[in-house]
Amino acid sequence: MFLKIDNINKTFTSEAGNNEVLKNVHFDIKENEFVVIFGPGQCGKSTLLNIIAGLEKESSGNVYLEDKKVTKPGPDRAVVYQNILLFPWLTVMGNVEFGPKSRGIKKSIRQKDAQEYIDLVGLNGFEKSFPVKLSGGMKQRVGIARAYCSKPKVMLMDEPFGALDAQTRYLMQEEVVRISAHEKRTVLFVTNNIEEAIYLADRIIVMTNCPSTIQKEYVIDLPRPRDYTSEEFLRLRQEISSIVEFTR
Ligand SMILES: Nc1ncnc2c1ncn2[C@@H]1O[C@H](COP(=O)(O)OP(=O)(O)OP(=O)(O)O)[C@@H](O)[C@H]1O
Ligand SMILES: [Mg+2]
Repeated sequence: MFLKIDNINKTFTSEAGNNEVLKNVHFDIKENEFVVIFGPGQCGKSTLLNIIAGLEKESSGNVYLEDKKVTKPGPDRAVVYQNILLFPWLTVMGNVEFGPKSRGIKKSIRQKDAQEYIDLVGLNGFEKSFPVKLSGGMKQRVGIARAYCSKPKVMLMDEPFGALDAQTRYLMQEEVVRISAHEKRTVLFVTNNIEEAIYLADRIIVMTNCPSTIQKEYVIDLPRPRDYTSEEFLRLRQEISSIVEFTR
């Protein structure tokens, strides 16, 4: 299996006591599959993603990428967060070429490659701009281009559009579908937005409340680009919403 999440448990321990967050989380992801993790707030979605990224240590269980145990962060896994941290002293080009540059790839080669990703995310003409000049949506685009340009085997995306206004969010969802069709990659995408989940996913994994485990999986085989208003979309939306344990 390409990416294997093998029976992960996670308990945070503090002076206040134990907080059991993940319980027997177990699933596989195929190469080039687009999997969305969907669940209530604070159910441990980010914790799970951070464990796969190697940024957080599981209490028990294992993560395997191509049969190799994940023990620390590595260039084979890129993470895209809600508030992407761009390097403010670098231009768009400087940010996107950062990974290949730090691996010592020759300037002419890495900049040609970076340019392709800048074009792909629709930022042609902004190569020399500094992040401070960019809108929220544009910054997320730079972060996505930078992540793809570092050529990871897996893209880990943690509510990457959570801080954007609704209109920009829809636009970015369309962009992700377009980019994924062009640039096949294994993606694990976290959201608490049901429409976003159905719009993007090959498969949705629904998590329960804390201690969180997998509640149900849905294979979404609607053709892309998907229509938010189609009967099947609305039916899935209704069905998945009805099983999620949102807390008030
Ligand atoms: N480093 C940490 N130390 C202690 N507790 C933590 C730590 N990180 C997360 N938690 C706890 O783990 C639980 C799950 O948090 P997590 O951020 O993974 O959830 P989430 O599903 O991503 O939430 P959200 O929907 O708000 O993004 C929360 O109760 C949180 O307080
Ligand atoms: Mg989170």
